[in-house]
Amino acid sequence: MANLPGFLTEMGIEVEPIGMIGDGAEVTKAPLILTRGKEREVKIEDLVLVENLNGNWVLGVCRRGFGRSPGLRRDRYSPGRAYARMGMQPSEARESFDFTISIIGELTPNGIRQNKLIIAPRSRAYAFRKGSPLALLGGSLDIGYYKDHPSWVVPVRPEFIPYHMGVFCVTGWGKSSFVRCKIIPLLRHAGYGVLVFDWKGDDYVPYAEALGAEVLKLEQIACLPPDMGAVYIIKKANSFGFSAGSAILNNIEVALLEALEKITGQEEKGEEPQPRPFPTSGLTAEQIKTLLERAVLAKMEELIDKKYLELAERRFLARFRRLDARIFKLLTPAGKLKPEDVIEKARKGIVIIDLSGWEPEEKLTAFLSIASYVWQKMNVEKESINVAFVIDEAPQYCPYQPKGIQEQTTRMIEGLCALGRSYKLPIVIISQGLKGDIGINPAVRRNINTWFIGKVHPLDREEAQNMLPGVDIDFLQSLEVGHFYFYGNMCPSPVPLLIRFSIENCFKGQG
Ligand SMILES: Nc1ncnc2c1ncn2[C@@H]1O[C@H](COP(=O)(O)OP(=O)(O)OP(=O)(O)O)[C@@H](O)[C@H]1O
Ligand SMILES: [Mg+2]
Repeated sequence: MANLPGFLTEMGIEVEPIGMIGDGAEVTKAPLILTRGKEREVKIEDLVLVENLNGNWVLGVCRRGFGRSPGLRRDRYSPGRAYARMGMQPSEARESFDFTISIIGELTPNGIRQNKLIIAPRSRAYAFRKGSPLALLGGSLDIGYYKDHPSWVVPVRPEFIPYHMGVFCVTGWGKSSFVRCKIIPLLRHAGYGVLVFDWKGDDYVPYAEALGAEVLKLEQIACLPPDMGAVYIIKKANSFGFSAGSAILNNIEVALLEALEKITGQEEKGEEPQPRPFPTSGLTAEQIKTLLERAVLAKMEELIDKKYLELAERRFLARFRRLDARIFKLLTPAGKLKPEDVIEKARKGIVIIDLSGWEPEEKLTAFLSIASYVWQKMNVEKESINVAFVIDEAPQYCPYQPKGIQEQTTRMIEGLCALGRSYKLPIVIISQGLKGDIGINPAVRRNINTWFIGKVHPLDREEAQNMLPGVDIDFLQSLEVGHFYFYGNMCPSPVPLLIRFSIENCFKGQG
């Protein structure tokens, strides 16, 4: 048994010897030779304590495992191989099992700090049998538990929450569940309000009650500015039967734009095509539709050559009248919650914006209208926000190669990240892919400082390896649902930790 330092005993920690450090140990990693029989107990990602003969106690984690049997080497003949070939039992005398330990740090009564000593070969290594070694890491709150130990709660460094987080793994491997069960409650405990953008409306909206969240529908908050509104109507009306870019269609677009500006009182003043504060006009969607029809027809008469006017009017009317009045709700500022109202609600708890039932452009516009308000608050008024943004399905907002309105949302998210650090606006980015075509925009990626990475798409293998030094990538690729490597500045350990969470205990404040 180890003669543990007093502070470890006081913490109720008990350990059991499992092996010894071998040749080639360094400061940050060391080979662990398992005592005979322990290879059946010690597993990859287990935490180990090393009584370094060079004078300190260090905590480490088992990473790559190796089984050695020199008598069975494949590059030359040996009696062992001959025995094996004959179906007999070769000698196990020279067999051994090793793990490469990644060193987490040196243990001190005040918590963990960077290890600077070489780990001495022949130092003894121990497994934890009682007490939670995670308590040694410092930090507070909880982001799940360590691998196979539901009682080993993994703490975080809450001061780094506004440095933004990213959650990545292949589809169906538990990203949204993890955010719902662990990240959102963590943000609340850390004192932040939460604003969730639910792209499909089925990842968070159904759990609103359990989360104690208020759900707002896109049409309650979104108001398309006239230029986007015009393009939107043309799209909905299948270009009124004209080919894209044709002169008549362009004229219809101008007519729509002008009519929308007039009717909704949103005349274009500056250069910036950003969504602007909503005027207080009291028109309903139906009224807008009727007014718009009249105004567009009048404008078309001015713009379109007499020869084509009748055809244009007929096509316009036929398709315009068929449009669902619902879509005109997006064009009116009447009855809408203003972005400041949405943020005010989010400050007090959790608000989920249900973006379902609309096309990507509308979803992104809704996001922009809130985001640009918040950006303004931080950039101009230097105001702390204290609300976290949860952006699920992030490649829809800030893909590798943004197109159309995505260019605006990508720039906006990048801007929010940069200011968010100082003005308490943590952003949680959730994506299936990390890098390249399937990933998120590099400008956004480099603003993420805490990473939760589960099993990744094969195309992301290399990036995952870069992101998770020391981790066995084949092991990462075989992770089950709901397991993530936790790494970055919120993680109290300098090396990635494998965490998981229980979906059953989701809203009971544990697991
Ligand atoms: N910790 C867990 N334990 C058990 N089951 C889980 C766990 N986490 C997630 N699941 C299950 O895995 C499934 C997929 O989860 P989820 O929708 O969170 O994945 P996702 O990564 O967000 O997928 P997508 O990329 O499609 O959005 C769900 O049915 C959920 O119940
Ligand atoms: Mg999801």
